[in-house]
Amino acid sequence: MERIICLLTGYVFGLIQTGYIYGKIIHKDIRQYGSGNSGTTNALRVLGKKAGVIVFLGDFLKAVILCLLVKFLYGKTMPEMAPLLMLYGGLGVVLGHNYPFYLKFKGGKGIAATSGVIITMDWRITLVCLAAFVISVAITRIVSIGSLLVVTVFLGMWIGLGLAGLLPLSGPYLTESFVVVLVFTALAYWRHRANIKRLINGTENRFGSKNK
Ligand code: G3P
Repeated sequence: MERIICLLTGYVFGLIQTGYIYGKIIHKDIRQYGSGNSGTTNALRVLGKKAGVIVFLGDFLKAVILCLLVKFLYGKTMPEMAPLLMLYGGLGVVLGHNYPFYLKFKGGKGIAATSGVIITMDWRITLVCLAAFVISVAITRIVSIGSLLVVTVFLGMWIGLGLAGLLPLSGPYLTESFVVVLVFTALAYWRHRANIKRLINGTENRFGSKNK
């Protein structure tokens, strides 16, 4: 029951589409421009740096706040399960962000929100994800490569640290957490399928060049 409560509450948080709201305020639906994505990268591309920062912070913080709320609510009463519930809540945020019902399920790709989940879960994974993102984007100028690396590192390190006994979860909760983190990663790859096609074709958008 707690899992469902966290997932649903997360979904509601995820509905706060910073990119869409920002666009509404300035009368420009960013989903009609650039890559059609309502997230940070497209806000940066279509509306500029200030918009990119605001959209990132909004989408990132909604996940941080939800995960901390779950921790606050369940950390004392269900300490063994709380990290798993934070993951469920975070997954809900990503689902709400990616598939907002009031925008005909057309939202973002969930990377800023996933980053918000990661930072509340584990500082080691956060540091490696950040390094992977910054280095890969600095070299390639392709954000989708950095995004896919973030979720891949998240999954790989979560499983690695979990198997090494370095996560605050054990037994069936740990195994279940592997599945939930796998869903985060699968969801991100699925939402990036057009980007992956463009990466394979060598036509993916680069910062500093004209974009589709
Ligand atoms: O986080 C989204 C990014 O990886 C790709 O965004 O707009 O280039 O599809 P976009």
